[in-house]
Amino acid sequence: MKNKAFKRYTVTSALPYANGPLHIGHLAGCYIPSDIYVRYLRSRERDVAYVCGSDEHGVAITIKAKKEGVSPQEVVDRYHEMMKESFREFGISFDHYSRTSAKIHHETASEFFKDLYQKGEFLEQTTQQYFDEEAGQFLADRYIEGTCPKCGHDGAYGDQCEKCGSSLSPTELINPKSKLSGSTPVLKETKHWFLDLARYTEFLKNWILVDHASDWKNNVLGQCRSWLEAGDGLQARSMTRDMDWGIPVPVEGAEGKVLYVWFDAPIGYISSTKEWAAEKGIDWEPYWKDEDTKLVHFIGKDNIVFHCIIFPAILKTHGGYVLPDNVPANEFLNLEGDKISTSRNWAVWLHEYLQDFPGKQDVLRYVLTANAPETKDNDFTWKDFQSRNNSELVAIFGNFVNRAVVLTHKFFEGKVPALGQLEQIDKGVLEEMAAFPEKIASSIERYRFREALSFVMDFARMGNKYLADTEPWKAIKTDPERTGTVLNIALNIAANLALVAEPFLPFTAGKMYGMLGLEGLRWEKAGSADLLKSGISIQQATLLFDKIEDQVVEAQVNKLLEAKKKNEMENAQAAPMKDIITYDDFAKLDMRVVKVLTVEPMPKSKKLLKLTVDTGLGQRTVLSGVAEHFKPEELIGKQVVMLINLAPRKMMGIDSEGMILMAEDRDGSLKLLQPHQTVFNGATIS
Ligand code: 2FM
Ligand code: ZN
Repeated sequence: MKNKAFKRYTVTSALPYANGPLHIGHLAGCYIPSDIYVRYLRSRERDVAYVCGSDEHGVAITIKAKKEGVSPQEVVDRYHEMMKESFREFGISFDHYSRTSAKIHHETASEFFKDLYQKGEFLEQTTQQYFDEEAGQFLADRYIEGTCPKCGHDGAYGDQCEKCGSSLSPTELINPKSKLSGSTPVLKETKHWFLDLARYTEFLKNWILVDHASDWKNNVLGQCRSWLEAGDGLQARSMTRDMDWGIPVPVEGAEGKVLYVWFDAPIGYISSTKEWAAEKGIDWEPYWKDEDTKLVHFIGKDNIVFHCIIFPAILKTHGGYVLPDNVPANEFLNLEGDKISTSRNWAVWLHEYLQDFPGKQDVLRYVLTANAPETKDNDFTWKDFQSRNNSELVAIFGNFVNRAVVLTHKFFEGKVPALGQLEQIDKGVLEEMAAFPEKIASSIERYRFREALSFVMDFARMGNKYLADTEPWKAIKTDPERTGTVLNIALNIAANLALVAEPFLPFTAGKMYGMLGLEGLRWEKAGSADLLKSGISIQQATLLFDKIEDQVVEAQVNKLLEAKKKNEMENAQAAPMKDIITYDDFAKLDMRVVKVLTVEPMPKSKKLLKLTVDTGLGQRTVLSGVAEHFKPEELIGKQVVMLINLAPRKMMGIDSEGMILMAEDRDGSLKLLQPHQTVFNGATIS
């Protein structure tokens, strides 16, 4: 709640599914914001537990495993390590990164379920669900595909149509098919344990819409409101699933069933805290149970209902746990104008970024924060990445620090010069400097990281302007003492800049501390004009940021387009079969091998080429709509397949006497059909 003084902080970031590598959408959604927040809290010497881990249950994992023909365990082992490594590389400073397959998590989640079960909180309901008779198992939502009843899209899932965004239930799908065997599933009775969310409506309305009306973000409140005020109210949700991958439901009569992934995943935050505390030899309980603990969940917008409604209902019923003080969810980040998608391979993968831009983790952290989807969906473009790097990080931030350090070496042998008489301009910047940390802190504490970062940049801008206005490189000729004063102030601005930028740009701040010979600085000191005392030696300047050239970002855009195309080729589905015909129907088609003799472009047509061909029965003229696919010389002299008894058709004043047959590939490109050895012109095809 607002303005309460807390003794400690438990900060969580959504547990990512261990079914694929991490991409920029993950970083922008909840990992960078939470890391900034926690780094800031640590700088203020607050007691913080920052926990996360891999989400290793659920259908996303089992589908991936099926697709690859490996066990779910193999999938999660691979991606758990990979994600952990990417987080480390990007400086996401979790105190602990666990995984939901850990024993302690199975125990913790089972304990929660049993507690609620014993309290009689679950509605036991037998419902009809789809069952795959060939595979011998019930089908979780994502295992069923069919036609969307709302928009007619063919690949809608049992819980959602990604084309039109409607949420669906499996029985609504037209022509449902099992993704396991391709067969049509049948409905079969099964028992599940439901959480009766409607019972929490009043409590949730008061807690969210009244108590937190002024400190939760509007996008979060808006979604909560639409759930809580929906006409038919909150629906009971099943907390169990018929699957063999997950945490077994710990009650009698539940063989073959596991906890719903969204029941166990948020409890993963608690398990992760337990593991962390055990390793440190401290008590985990205050971090979850003490009223003086501020619990903050960083998530993406698709997780809002689970963190604001379902998990709090579970915590509240269990009792003894604090509820989140805030759930600062971000909206989505798009990429080059299109939704980021793992399955369509439309993403900037973190492990690839690290290979392509070694040592530039802070550039990505910067761009993703400066353009964070805090209040609405935003777009990442490589052009914007380049321009923020070149005109902000290089031209403002890096340039300022570099000038202050280089000039100190040039004029004062690398020693911080003494502060002399202060002029008005000096007093002005020192005053401004003293005010910046509070502005930045206030934005961070209100989860406005974009705004906070813009203040950090304003601070760097101020440093740059100060050097431009005072021109120490000129003053040195006439007044070395004045130059010394200016550089003393500039170096102290740089030191302060390192301190306030650290939550956002930790690698850069580390380099700056190294250059300036500083360590262990804390937020409390921010704004002070004597972080660097006169007389101390500083190191030579190292490059903080360098320019990114056009061809580098163009290559990234091309890489994206190629990956997308490759994916389309791999995943495109063959068109459905046409209606059955008789042999007599087929026999009417007169298809021949013909030789292309001449090819000419058609004036005023982008699509048509004019071909003359030898059909073995004489020469024919054919107009073919392939000008965008072939150059004339690619066709001349080739044997191709032609339907010769198609009724002639006049196009652009010319009779086209037949049709050349071609294969259309998945990406829409056309390929010639040719006999594998030369045959006589006019050979029939049957
Ligand atoms: O959406 C997701 O990626 C989920 N794996 C997030 C889980 S958050 C938490 F509850 F663990
Ligand atoms: Zn649809």
